[in-house]
Amino acid sequence: MYDESAESYAALMDGEIDLPIYADVLGRLAKRLAGVSGALIDTSCGPGHMLLRYHEQSDRDRELVGIDLSPKMVALASVSLGPVADIRLGDMRNLDEVETDSVAAVLSFFAIHHIDPEEVAFSLREWKRVLCPGGQLVVAAWEGTGSIDYGDESEILALRYTSGEIRDWAQAAGFAVDRCLVEPVSEMPMDALYFEGTAEGERTRAESDS
Ligand SMILES: C[S@@+](CC[C@H](N)C(=O)[O-])C[C@H]1O[C@@H](n2cnc3c(N)ncnc32)[C@H](O)[C@@H]1O
Repeated sequence: MYDESAESYAALMDGEIDLPIYADVLGRLAKRLAGVSGALIDTSCGPGHMLLRYHEQSDRDRELVGIDLSPKMVALASVSLGPVADIRLGDMRNLDEVETDSVAAVLSFFAIHHIDPEEVAFSLREWKRVLCPGGQLVVAAWEGTGSIDYGDESEILALRYTSGEIRDWAQAAGFAVDRCLVEPVSEMPMDALYFEGTAEGERTRAESDS
């Protein structure tokens, strides 16, 4: 589906990325990452708007990695970000190529509705695995219960999750909950949730001293 709609989705995001919520969430992430070394991985980067905005607005020196399941999205993000980010075809549920405890931040914006509850819980554990202790997680998702109506493409898996579910699964995966905001979205029949968490665990002496 996203291969077919990648260009129109990118055009939509060209406007949406200027909404204050993105500056707010990405700006706060940059502040929380001060002193935390390592890459930021967007696990479902789409055409790359979050990575580009994060780079331009907040943190020009951070290594950026974008992953997406759609080859067309990967192609668009590669053009948009150029040398600023390493964009790869991949699956957010399985970051096998990424070392344990190696990453400063994981982003997931409006993509977990395409995986079922067990996979969300599994993915949160995988993201915790790759994050260093103190690493930051930001998840944006559609809040609520039941499925999202995709009209003609009704066979597509698209599920809403409650903020309670996300908090519970994130805590079970080893994240401390820093913030979980539920916000209405203009012209949408459902709210968005923005979850921010910190990977728990001891930082090594070398990390603490640096
Ligand atoms: C609604 S778009 C959001 C894109 C981007 N995060 C944003 O907010 O602009 C959902 C994205 O998730 C990607 N996606 C869906 N399932 C995925 C998976 N299992 N692994 C990685 N990406 C996936 C789609 O290809 C699509 O680019």
